[in-house]
Amino acid sequence: MRIGVLASGSGTNLEAILAAGLPVAIVVVDRPCRATEVAAAHGVPSEIVRRVPDRVEFTHSIVDALEHHGVELVAMAGFMTILEKPIFDVYEGRILNTHPSLLPAFKGAHAVEDALAAGVKVTGCTIHVATLEVDSGPIVAQEAVPVLPGDDAATLHERIKAVEHRLYPETIRGFAGEGGRR
Ligand code: GRF
Repeated sequence: MRIGVLASGSGTNLEAILAAGLPVAIVVVDRPCRATEVAAAHGVPSEIVRRVPDRVEFTHSIVDALEHHGVELVAMAGFMTILEKPIFDVYEGRILNTHPSLLPAFKGAHAVEDALAAGVKVTGCTIHVATLEVDSGPIVAQEAVPVLPGDDAATLHERIKAVEHRLYPETIRGFAGEGGRR
């Protein structure tokens, strides 16, 4: 299955996906970022689709880029923009996301900080099918990560990411192998 990765940040999950040998056809980013360098280092094309105020229009441009590269399965990896209906019209059930908490706890962009603020002793990461409702789609895989005394958001997020780097590629592989649709 041809995979399209959406990234916008440090790209460490993209790196893990590529290191696992998954067939990434295109990396789409919304700004120049390390993810494009990671893609280039692996000989994978990347495209910058600039954000525009109209999120529906922005989503259409993302879908155009994915379809242009024959993408069949979309993996969101730290793509910090909410996508609109046009991507679900084309790829419904075939978009995965990784989120740094044990969903349904701590949805949203500040999951690690929110877990720390709540004082939980265990958090984790969740790989789920993305739906129009953010961080709410069917859960495909989940793994717990302990919160340790003295953790701040950076140390806790690093511990969660270390798990994501293993769990996300193996989950994508399994999901694609099952036909990639829920
Ligand atoms: C990951 O922890 C992911 O769960 C969250 O953003 C982070 C992305 O990290 N949505 P990276 O860009 O893959 O390093």
